[in-house]
Amino acid sequence: MQGKYIAIEGPDGSGNTTLSRGIVQELEQKDVPVIWTNEPSSRPIGRLIRQCLSHEVSVDLSAMLYLFVADRVDHYKKVVQPALEEGRVVVTDRSLISTFCYQTLIHAWYFIQELHKEVTIPDLVIVLEVPLAVAEARRQGREKVELYERKPTQEAVASNYRAVGNMLPQYPIVYLNGDRSKQAVLDDAIRLINDKFQLLR
Ligand SMILES: Nc1ncnc2c1ncn2[C@@H]1O[C@H](COP(=O)(O)OP(=O)(O)OP(=O)(O)O)[C@@H](O)[C@H]1O
Ligand SMILES: [Mg+2]
Repeated sequence: MQGKYIAIEGPDGSGNTTLSRGIVQELEQKDVPVIWTNEPSSRPIGRLIRQCLSHEVSVDLSAMLYLFVADRVDHYKKVVQPALEEGRVVVTDRSLISTFCYQTLIHAWYFIQELHKEVTIPDLVIVLEVPLAVAEARRQGREKVELYERKPTQEAVASNYRAVGNMLPQYPIVYLNGDRSKQAVLDDAIRLINDKFQLLR
């Protein structure tokens, strides 16, 4: 049986890495076959993007869109699809919704949609909502401010995340209040996933 493809989304510091790892741990404990993965991926194009995010390498900002889409296609075909075909649940820390929320800072929605025409949409997208100040406080203590992490950018990104559910009604997007304890957020996410896919019995 084909597995399920679940993406965890939200602005920087919303807790998407924490939640995606938590979901995988919880499913593993219940013997559900699952993998954790992320975008930008750990494959060659994803590594280049990460170097851009940390300012080690500089690429024109408008060219970043094409890197993200190229990484997405490569990541899907090389990592996600094989795992889905083995019947695994694939939990990805970020996917295409991030591109809609970050790259629409300089590219049009319709154009980004065009580029994603052949990209597989996840079966479920959980978007974590947290107040800007909370996300900012959670990012404190990190060594570097990455590309897209400046305050005005994060304000625009957060606003795009609020809009994305309406902008892309054909995508299975569910919003989750991320401004609660890690356990409360995780419990809700597991409930949501199980209601939709009946993975746990
Ligand atoms: N629900 C929560 N309550 C309190 N702290 C949290 C919660 N979720 C995550 N954190 C903490 O906030 C910090 C940022 O979390 P995390 O790395 O998961 O964010 P992120 O959304 O993945 O950020 P980025 O998108 O920049 O990678 C971490 O120190 C994490 O332990
Ligand atoms: Mg993260």
